[in-house]
Amino acid sequence: MHDIVKDYYGNVLSGSDDLQTNACCTDDNLSNSLKAILSNIHDEVLTRYYGCGLVTPELLKGCHVLDLGCGAGRDCYAIAQMVGESGSVTGVDMTDEQLAVANKHIEYHREKFGYAKANTTFLKGYIEKLNELDIADNSVDLVVSNCVINLSPDKHAVLKEIFRILKPGGEIYFSDVYADKRVPAHLKDDPLLYGECLSGALYWNDFENLAKSVGFAEPRLVSSRVITIDNDELAGRLEDINFTSATYRLFKAADLEQDPQDYGQKVTYKGSIPEHEAEFTLDQNTTFVAQQPTQVSGNTWRTLQQSRFNQHFIFEGDFEKHLGLFDISDAAFDFSSTKASSSSSSCCAPKPETTEKKSSCC
Ligand SMILES: C[S@@+](CC[C@H](N)C(=O)[O-])C[C@H]1O[C@@H](n2cnc3c(N)ncnc32)[C@H](O)[C@@H]1O
Repeated sequence: MHDIVKDYYGNVLSGSDDLQTNACCTDDNLSNSLKAILSNIHDEVLTRYYGCGLVTPELLKGCHVLDLGCGAGRDCYAIAQMVGESGSVTGVDMTDEQLAVANKHIEYHREKFGYAKANTTFLKGYIEKLNELDIADNSVDLVVSNCVINLSPDKHAVLKEIFRILKPGGEIYFSDVYADKRVPAHLKDDPLLYGECLSGALYWNDFENLAKSVGFAEPRLVSSRVITIDNDELAGRLEDINFTSATYRLFKAADLEQDPQDYGQKVTYKGSIPEHEAEFTLDQNTTFVAQQPTQVSGNTWRTLQQSRFNQHFIFEGDFEKHLGLFDISDAAFDFSSTKASSSSSSCCAPKPETTEKKSSCC
């Protein structure tokens, strides 16, 4: 599978327009600061963007970030601006052609960002074997990844490696493709379906259990978006499976329980995270309004305390009195309309019948 994927991203595709799904289309719902950040990135890098979501969490100043399957480096160069000159970004990818584009523009971006020294480096290697790249245990503040883990033949190894290298309290914030049921083996062997980030996708519930099994006790769904397939023949091969692109965050937090429990604890968000002064959204089920005490589960209390968000919250309560299961609505995926599309081509060309739907990946 590694060779098939290298060929697909190194030789078959030459830009986002060549993709057969809308996965790389990002909603036009970008903040002005993110638009400004993306406008600083070299065109050749933007053209070779094959991601399926936004992997730009809050509060990155000074962080050391690792981007797994960085491709031509769009997210690395975006995050390089967010971590600032005191932070750094390392991209890892196995495909020479992708890394060549990423490496070619290091100096361009250093100058564009006004940094004395470039804060971005790229390493050739496999995301299943970060140990071979000498990435030490507990050494990385944050891992990001954009539409890559579905392509790995050994997803357990990838998640285990991420858990190993993250610092305690660190997180992986990543977008990927998920299926609404398990993909049968004969579809996994189809190189086009696999390369297009479809048939390697995990059934979302298998993914959550896999993440838990390596130590990420409480996977948090941030957002999800239906993927449509712009090729009838390809869509037909996928039988009745529907796909979504979802962004999850997984924290490496100690002492979390299997299910969220209620101890009557509260946290108050201080309103101090830049660009999120009014409210801060941790995940699809959890938004904190500034200065307003909010009831949280023991797991959320511990996760916030151990994470880089700690100093932005006031914590009230303890674990003395248990009140039962913490009531949260289940994270909801939308798998409704994968097969709705038909005719036209790339992720970036507005389709005639859906011109009001905005896309901004190109
Ligand atoms: C869909 S592209 C996404 C690239 C990039 N994240 C972006 O958003 O443009 C997948 C990338 O992951 C890389 N990749 C896939 N499997 C990999 C693995 N096991 N180890 C390292 N890189 C991998 C591919 O070479 C390719 O560049």
